[in-house]
Amino acid sequence: MDDRLASDLRSAIRTIPDYPKPGIMFRDITTLLGDARAFRRAVDELVHPYAGAKIDKVAGIEARGFILGGAVAHQLSAGFVPIRKRGKLPHRTVSVAYALEYGSDEIEMHADALVQGERVVLVDDLIATGGTATAAVKLLRGIGAEVAAACFIIDLPDLGGAERLRAMGVDVRSLIAFE
Ligand code: PRP
Ligand code: ADE
Repeated sequence: MDDRLASDLRSAIRTIPDYPKPGIMFRDITTLLGDARAFRRAVDELVHPYAGAKIDKVAGIEARGFILGGAVAHQLSAGFVPIRKRGKLPHRTVSVAYALEYGSDEIEMHADALVQGERVVLVDDLIATGGTATAAVKLLRGIGAEVAAACFIIDLPDLGGAERLRAMGVDVRSLIAFE
């Protein structure tokens, strides 16, 4: 990705200091989503490496990963799998608990959302500690899917999440970093 695009995407993201807790610099992508050109360019850039590749499904993490993951799945002509916070999915689920930068949670997916050996791209807006994404990879691998890659608009490298995911053997991509 060229520097100009990275800088345009960076400026389309709004930073809210001390949200939701003191000390957190919240990277708010709603401004990027509301900017038609920035939204399209971000999705195109997320999709680019997988154009023509065999990707069966895109898995998006609630909530912001649904918006991006749906758009990425559409462009790849892949199915979409929602990974949701606990208690939201109606059918039989598999779940994994995880820690957040500001709290803890548990995510779930339908146990029959993928079949053994399907290739999946995991999508979310941001990786911080990597707690959410590593839990999602465990869920996907646990039901026999192959995680082809995990991609994010934003990496917060100081929190080490991308490195944690790479240590699990995942191909990790992000469009921009906020130190
Ligand atoms: C945010 C973000 C990622 C996660 C990253 O979601 O969208 O899913 O945190 O943090 P981590 O790498 O430290 O796990 P959040 O849990 O705030 O939920 P939301 O999308 O529903 O607001
Ligand atoms: N999720 C975890 N940390 C975050 C941050 N700093 N901004 C937005 N979403 C987040």
